[in-house]
Amino acid sequence: MKISTLTLKNFRNIQFEKIYFKDGVNVLSGKNAQGKTNILESIAFCSYLKSFRSCREEQLVKYGSDSACICLEYESGGVPCKIEIKIFRDRSKELKKNGLSVSKNRELIGEFLSIVFTPDHLNIIKEGPNKRRSFMDMALCSLDVKYTDSLLRYQKVLMQKNALLKKLNMLSDGFSGEELLDIYDRKLAQEGAYISVARARYLESLEPFARDIFGRMSKGEGKLKLLYINQFSKTVESIEQMEKAIFSRLVSKRSSDISFQLTQSGVQKDDFLVLNSGKSLKYFGSQGQIRSAVLSLILAQSEVIYKKCGEYPVVILDDILSELDRTRRAFILDGLHNAQCILSTCETQKVKNRGNILKVKDGRIV
Ligand SMILES: Nc1ncnc2c1ncn2[C@@H]1O[C@H](COP(=O)(O)OP(=O)(O)OP(=O)(O)O)[C@@H](O)[C@H]1O
Ligand SMILES: [Mg+2]
Repeated sequence: MKISTLTLKNFRNIQFEKIYFKDGVNVLSGKNAQGKTNILESIAFCSYLKSFRSCREEQLVKYGSDSACICLEYESGGVPCKIEIKIFRDRSKELKKNGLSVSKNRELIGEFLSIVFTPDHLNIIKEGPNKRRSFMDMALCSLDVKYTDSLLRYQKVLMQKNALLKKLNMLSDGFSGEELLDIYDRKLAQEGAYISVARARYLESLEPFARDIFGRMSKGEGKLKLLYINQFSKTVESIEQMEKAIFSRLVSKRSSDISFQLTQSGVQKDDFLVLNSGKSLKYFGSQGQIRSAVLSLILAQSEVIYKKCGEYPVVILDDILSELDRTRRAFILDGLHNAQCILSTCETQKVKNRGNILKVKDGRIV
């Protein structure tokens, strides 16, 4: 995937701007609060149809305007493509691919492939398991529609089951809910098995690339390992085996679910460990090591996408260079030969004469 131009109209602090990108590394450089992240956000929006900042859609529209437009022109497999998105303050957005209207989000999600690093991603290692689950979910949802469907169905059934567990205490005698709980648990095991196996396989495919990138970035210091953790089984062999394991755990926890009025086990508790030479980076990693490890995970994603789709995604790196030493910086600025990369930095000195430099000032490219 290669972006040629991005045209923004009333998107955040950008009134109107057509931005030309080149192959290789493109650097958005400028002082704080000029619009660098806003530009990256608009590009990633074309892939995921949601912002990487947790915000409401209407917040993307420039203050005082009714709508914002993003038009992304890019090449996919050598073929020119165009995505147009119009975001309104008061109604749902309009989508077009190559000039034709698209009515459903899912028809457009994943058409334009990109992967994103923002400083928030450091939480993948630093914070709790929910960050690591959303890392896996984001990646898998963009690679596998069946995964998205399974995840949505799982979340819905889990909500229904939890609602029932809350009600059970209030209901009159004679209704134990056993039959309904059994139906919910079977469904949770079925969807959960698909989710769990997909997560395990995804981490397996990510690990060799992440280890290689981490090793090259840090010139051989340490060895990265990813360890998938679930409550059901140490080895993940097949969906059928996983379904049985999840169901038997759900059944064994049923009485405790009823007393806690909450489902105690399931893939909503999954996690993975990021180890460097056998030690958890969460507890033993330096700032720079954690940043390098997260970056390795993100860049490894681009290799996995290439393996699956035959094409590299555009790599979007927000504020990546701070906290990285010269070697690791050079790895980013010189090393991503396979993919087009768009990064932002306010440390203009560090990127002098490196890549296609686009200076951002007050919502404009100057
Ligand atoms: N909906 C909006 N309408 C107009 N301006 C907005 C809107 N949303 C955000 N902004 C403005 O955009 C600017 C922030 O832009 P952005 O986050 O892209 O900065 P940045 O260049 O990445 O800065 P930093 O180096 O600090 O990360 C702020 O001045 C903010 O007020
Ligand atoms: Mg920024």
